[in-house]
Amino acid sequence: MRTQIAIIGSGPSGLLLGQLLTEAGIDNVIIDRVNKDYILGRVRAGVLEEGTVGLLDQAKAGTRLHAEGLPHDGFSLAFDGRDHRIDLHELTGGRRVTVYGQTEVTRDLMERREASGSLSIYDAVDVAPHDFDGHSPFVTYVKDGVAKRIDCDFIAGCDGFHGVSRKAVPERAIRSFEKVYPFGWLGVLADVAPVSHELIYANHPRGFALCSMRSATRSRYYIQCALDEKIENWSDDRFWDELRRRLPVHHAEALPTAPSFEKSIAPLRSFVAEPMRFGRLFLVGDAAHIVPPTGAKGLNLAASDVHYLFSGLIEHYREGSDGGIDAYSQKALARVWKAVRFSWWMTTMMHRFPDTGDFDQKIQEAELDYLTHSRAASTALAENYVGLPF
Ligand code: FAD
Ligand code: DHB
Repeated sequence: MRTQIAIIGSGPSGLLLGQLLTEAGIDNVIIDRVNKDYILGRVRAGVLEEGTVGLLDQAKAGTRLHAEGLPHDGFSLAFDGRDHRIDLHELTGGRRVTVYGQTEVTRDLMERREASGSLSIYDAVDVAPHDFDGHSPFVTYVKDGVAKRIDCDFIAGCDGFHGVSRKAVPERAIRSFEKVYPFGWLGVLADVAPVSHELIYANHPRGFALCSMRSATRSRYYIQCALDEKIENWSDDRFWDELRRRLPVHHAEALPTAPSFEKSIAPLRSFVAEPMRFGRLFLVGDAAHIVPPTGAKGLNLAASDVHYLFSGLIEHYREGSDGGIDAYSQKALARVWKAVRFSWWMTTMMHRFPDTGDFDQKIQEAELDYLTHSRAASTALAENYVGLPF
């Protein structure tokens, strides 16, 4: 089989890139090692920047997002028993974010892809990119016991942090930067009204907590937990009790609860691989970088990578110029590092670290106090949260 772009990975970055290319008339094939239901079962991101929404519109996958997504003009920072609202809309001259689950983004893109007739191959085994240093790259995989090969012009490695694309690059050609945080997030999804119509990010001596949502009747909550925490030790009652303890009293008393139907633990990590291009192989999204979820940036960064790569590929095919693809890595990384910094900063300010002593705690409180009383500091937070331009 031959295509123009072979895309490894059918997560948000692979699906978005694939759909933009399809809409632009550029042939592409997506190959994933798992099946659609498995991908749709992964509960992850919830907050979309305007730039991400714009790209989904461009991919003609934004209809349901506009009908069902929840526009948010602000969020709350809770600490020391009180709440402080960050007015995103006012501080950023009218910008906002949209709360819409990653699962739904993925579903919309998959449906759009199916309708447009582009090929996706699921349940592929031993997927591997080859010869991306030369002029004739190709991807091999095994499907139903039969070895297959796709020849292509370029390979997009959209296969997440644990994928094969980054691992296929010789170690000497890649430099990685990593910070592992000594805690994780325990997340719960429940069909119950959210405690507040806006997100609450809570700093508490017992650890961080986040109140989010998927709709007026579905809530998403997270609490900071130890890395070795076992999910089976967390009954729903224990989770709700712990969440209540970490919220200001007026929220704790108002918290509606219901049985959870999803519960999982995610470790927190900052990771960047440089560069993001190796000949005819491009790394995109989580394949190249990971941020801790505190700033809600991971999926949005995947989308901005897609934007830069898509623009470069359009320039290549329509104008015969490689300027865009040559600049891909540098442009994407400039934005990535700013989001890595923001996510690290939010994480550091909002969590209890095992070695947080009295001094560090006072510094955290002073920072939050400053942030909530200084318009300049609040504006810097808001500007990053709604997303830097691309
Ligand atoms: P992935 O979603 O990881 O997709 C990669 C795909 O590649 C998968 O389908 C996988 O099956 C496939 N694959 C892997 N290996 C192979 C292989 N060998 N061969 C073929 N296919 C392969 N981001 C935000 O922007 N906002 C948020 O609010 C937010 N909250 C989050 C909360 C949590 C708890 C977590 C865990 C993450 C959150 N994120 C958030 C981050 C966001 O979910 C990720 O950044 C996003 O999923 C990245 O998309 P991706 O397509 O690059 O990678
Ligand atoms: C959600 C996840 C985040 O990481 C975040 O910062 C905000 C919201 C969510 O899943 O709803």
